[in-house]
Amino acid sequence: MLNNIILIGFMGSGKSRLAKDFSKKIGINIIDTDNIIESIEKKEIKDIFSENGEQYFRDMEQLVANWIQDDLKNTLISSGGGFHKVININQLGRVVFIDSSFENILKHLEKKSEFSKRPLYTDKKSLKELYDKRRIEYIQAAYETIKVDLYTDEENINRLLEIHEYDIIQKKEDN
Ligand code: S3P
Repeated sequence: MLNNIILIGFMGSGKSRLAKDFSKKIGINIIDTDNIIESIEKKEIKDIFSENGEQYFRDMEQLVANWIQDDLKNTLISSGGGFHKVININQLGRVVFIDSSFENILKHLEKKSEFSKRPLYTDKKSLKELYDKRRIEYIQAAYETIKVDLYTDEENINRLLEIHEYDIIQKKEDN
């Protein structure tokens, strides 16, 4: 058992922030799949999309997923909004869907410069269509959903902690 937790969910749902807060609280190692791809490619995601195309980026996500499966343990992984589509998502660790309302996601993305970092954003109508389609996929891929809007940051961190501790207990029982 790898004992990783993978946060999946729509762009702007707060995966990275929750991962950082959680790591501050319990000192767990964290990685962000988008950041890894940016550092391998030495360019920003939006430039990878425009210069190499979306499929190239998706192939990079699959490479990162394979690396996680082979080499990563005891880590909290924050992922890009399409990462749930990698073929081995359920072999990487416990998958947790960070579920936020479309309204809150829009509020977050509307903050200065956030839309420009998201190559898949064209207009609000298409974004909502993508959100509805993706939500079903996230629910299917996830072991657990955290509806982050309904709770305080502290409560969301504690829920993640319960999932993490459950994994540690399971691991001890497995040995
Ligand atoms: C994407 C979401 C982005 C990034 C890329 C593609 C998507 O990550 O991986 O722009 O397919 O939804 P965030 O969820 O961190 O914005």
